[in-house]
Amino acid sequence: MIGAQWGDEGKGKITDLLSGSADVVVRYQGGVNAGHTVVVQGQTFKLHLIPSGILYPETECIIGSGTVIDPKVLLQELDQLHELGIATDKLHISESAHVTMPYHRLIDQASEEKRGSHKIGTTGRGIGPTYADKSERTGIRIVDLMLQDDLVKQLRWTVNYKNVILEKLYDLPPLDPEAVIEEYLGYAERLRPHVVDSSLRIYDAIQQKRNILFEGAQGTLLDLDHGTYPYVTSSNPVAGGACIGSGVGPTMIDRVIGVAKAYTTRVGEGPFPTELDGEVGELLCDRGAEFGTTTGRRRRCGWFDGVIGRYAVRINGLDCLAITKLDVLDTLDEIKVCVAYDIDGKQINDFPTSARLFAQCTPIYKTLPGWKQSTADCRTLDDLPKPALAYLKYLAELMEVPIAIVSLGASRDQTIIVEDPIHGPKRALLYSNGTASPVM
Ligand code: IMP
Repeated sequence: MIGAQWGDEGKGKITDLLSGSADVVVRYQGGVNAGHTVVVQGQTFKLHLIPSGILYPETECIIGSGTVIDPKVLLQELDQLHELGIATDKLHISESAHVTMPYHRLIDQASEEKRGSHKIGTTGRGIGPTYADKSERTGIRIVDLMLQDDLVKQLRWTVNYKNVILEKLYDLPPLDPEAVIEEYLGYAERLRPHVVDSSLRIYDAIQQKRNILFEGAQGTLLDLDHGTYPYVTSSNPVAGGACIGSGVGPTMIDRVIGVAKAYTTRVGEGPFPTELDGEVGELLCDRGAEFGTTTGRRRRCGWFDGVIGRYAVRINGLDCLAITKLDVLDTLDEIKVCVAYDIDGKQINDFPTSARLFAQCTPIYKTLPGWKQSTADCRTLDDLPKPALAYLKYLAELMEVPIAIVSLGASRDQTIIVEDPIHGPKRALLYSNGTASPVM
């Protein structure tokens, strides 16, 4: 299950729903830049690293090798779950995941400041620098954290090396290597019971024919390789990232579910063609409570972008879509959908690779009628006002992909399951013509 836009598509709720049918949930990339808000029986859970599958007592959760783990935040999440009486013994952490260290956070924040008007608008959680160390081969992995003697030697060297960067490049005070060592040795002991060879564990689960849900964080347009570079995160949220970030082969993935909001949002810098500055943008932000779970930043809001939607279908090989927050559009007179872009009178149908070109794109819209009534209590497609159903069918037609789930609010029950995307037949869901034959 992946995000089909710029993240914050409501994946937390959809993972939570699908986790009921999953024996194992695997998070495969990203770190504490992500944030899921899940509401169960009136209780709100905010999670950054732990998959929301943890809320099901029978579901095993794995934080995979492609993630970057900030142990301090992870332990806070574990404490929060314990306080609420939720068992965490079924949480496993990959030995190969990389560890976010204090200098990663400091460098992330300081380098953003240095970039000035070229800043990316990162979450400031040290994600980019942790992945940079992974690529540079100076990273510290969970497995290193488990080997006390080696860790002490490695950290003494690394912290001193990073201190040169902190002091000389960013004018920051140095870190005390011994204090960092002590802090991380403490984290290591608490995490030890959860640490496993995750790819082996996942492979065993596949052999046992257990259902596995791979949960993407962020979204397709934030992908390091396929997103709106450089305004992206430093990992691969796309479906292919699930294989690399969990250590499973592509032949083992049965289907790919994309999650998209009924409109679009983006946090941080970077081009966003359908962004709305005026009243409608405000309305989407207020009705959709569009504030980041991790940073509290107000999200930029705009109309649904069919060009990036089609791109997400292509890049991820989507089998079906979950459309979230349809209810946010309930009060609008009319709703626009971007069907293509215009650059200097030339129509662009496909997402352009260059950020510069993307910044020049003006949306070409199709306008659809609004429904001006609440959809929050609809539980089947038949309950939906006709224009709302027509809107969904239009999205399915535009993206040439069926819709499996429609979400109409934060609670588990505010959902229309058109077809169970895990157990249901592949590609036999809500098509634009409303019949069982796909639009292709
Ligand atoms: P980073 O991942 O903190 O390095 O931030 C890079 C970009 O990704 C920034 O534009 C962030 O706002 C964005 N980003 C990172 N994580 C999320 C997320 O979970 N939701 C939405 N945007 C995110």
